[in-house]
Amino acid sequence: MRKITVIGTGYVGLVSGAGISDFGHHVTCADIVESKIKLLQEGKIPIYEPGLDELVDRNVSAGRLSFTTKVDEAIQQADVIFIAVGTPQGENGEANISAVEAVARSIGKNLNGYKVICTKSTVPIGTGDRVCELVRETMPEGGEFDYVSNPEFLREGSAVKDFLWPDRVVIGASSDKAFDILRDVYRPLYVNEKPMVHTNVATAEMIKYAANAFLALKISYINEVANLCEAVGADVHLVAKAMGQDGRISPKFLHPGPGFGGSCFPKDTHAIAALSRKKGVPMNTIDAAIITNNDQKKRMTEKLKNLVGGDFSRKTIGVLGLAFKPNTDDVRESSSIEMIQTILDGGGKVKAYDPMANESMKKVFPNLNYSHSWEETCDDVDAVAIMTEWNEFRGMSLEKLKKIMKAPIVLDTRNILSIDKLSEHGFQFDNVGRKKYYDS
Ligand code: UDX
Repeated sequence: MRKITVIGTGYVGLVSGAGISDFGHHVTCADIVESKIKLLQEGKIPIYEPGLDELVDRNVSAGRLSFTTKVDEAIQQADVIFIAVGTPQGENGEANISAVEAVARSIGKNLNGYKVICTKSTVPIGTGDRVCELVRETMPEGGEFDYVSNPEFLREGSAVKDFLWPDRVVIGASSDKAFDILRDVYRPLYVNEKPMVHTNVATAEMIKYAANAFLALKISYINEVANLCEAVGADVHLVAKAMGQDGRISPKFLHPGPGFGGSCFPKDTHAIAALSRKKGVPMNTIDAAIITNNDQKKRMTEKLKNLVGGDFSRKTIGVLGLAFKPNTDDVRESSSIEMIQTILDGGGKVKAYDPMANESMKKVFPNLNYSHSWEETCDDVDAVAIMTEWNEFRGMSLEKLKKIMKAPIVLDTRNILSIDKLSEHGFQFDNVGRKKYYDS
């Protein structure tokens, strides 16, 4: 059993902390935001993430997991410290690592014995060197530590599963001793023969960016293929399916949609692009993926505009789905934001609904008309835009939908409704990369 402190209780920090305690270690999750820690101490989870409440409960009850705002104490008592604080996008696209730097200084000041300092936040390549420099500057004389970059690949909505059953664990360690300690932290995974990829620090930092940017690129690629499918009368679903049957390509992350969002892909693509410019090594593919994604979000708003006759004024649109993907309440960089803004800018009204993300979206658009079901949202609207593929939207009765809407017009940006059924019920509709039907 190791004594572990995780600093930062966002998605990555909280899931990692709870997951590592589930591996049998004693974990303290520390954060300077008192309100968050208070909630956690009361047994409440500040984010919606399937299975996380149960994971936290189980380990708190077993006495392996606790929460504190006393970051200094938490550092002093730990053998291994995970840095999992935010790295928001700064000016010129680079990730802002000031929170990581502040934590590094705190660790240095509280270094009361050998510790492994491990970064989980997605940080620009070279941050490991910076953290080590700051710890050395602030630590007491004779202080000893090793540094590890241990990027996290969990996805929101399936974060618990991704953490407990990862495809691989990347450990970029500055010494063999630190690698062995980290392998011990992940012992249950190691015993289950999950690959433990041992690299140097810069390589581990690069793996995270390269993986995320590649997935983003794959999505932008299939979105462009979808757009071309529309122009030539092809069906992107069948194209993607047959592409994915090629083992070299794989069917994953080949779903066309309204453009990727979330806290990682938009930020990480900008960060790797900024880094490549700084190093004088252009990554034209990533620049293109970013441009394509922005265009895709705009393209969705154009589609909806065309569906409602070229003008949003005096139109009321039902927006179904606000989160950037299902099973989360996170609306960061969600394509629904651009959609809603465009409708409002065009003089239209919005009725909005998400099974989980209404509250999060109220922080972006406080004055929208928020509903509590798809039926309430679609009642008496001129058109509906499906922005997130929640299962409850897949199961909507088209008969009922047609009855309650003012006009049967649907934009399905996630391709979750059957185009045959939409046709049968007399809807005018559009989607991404498939057959559309409307009077233009
Ligand atoms: C991503 C990475 O998958 C994860 O490894 C990393 O740790 C954090 O970033 P996340 O942002 O939680 O995870 O969600 P993900 O499932 O990857 O989806 C990101 C965005 O891409 C969403 O907006 C989603 O709707 C979109 N997407 C995903 C597509 O449009 N098509 C796809 O085929 C897959």
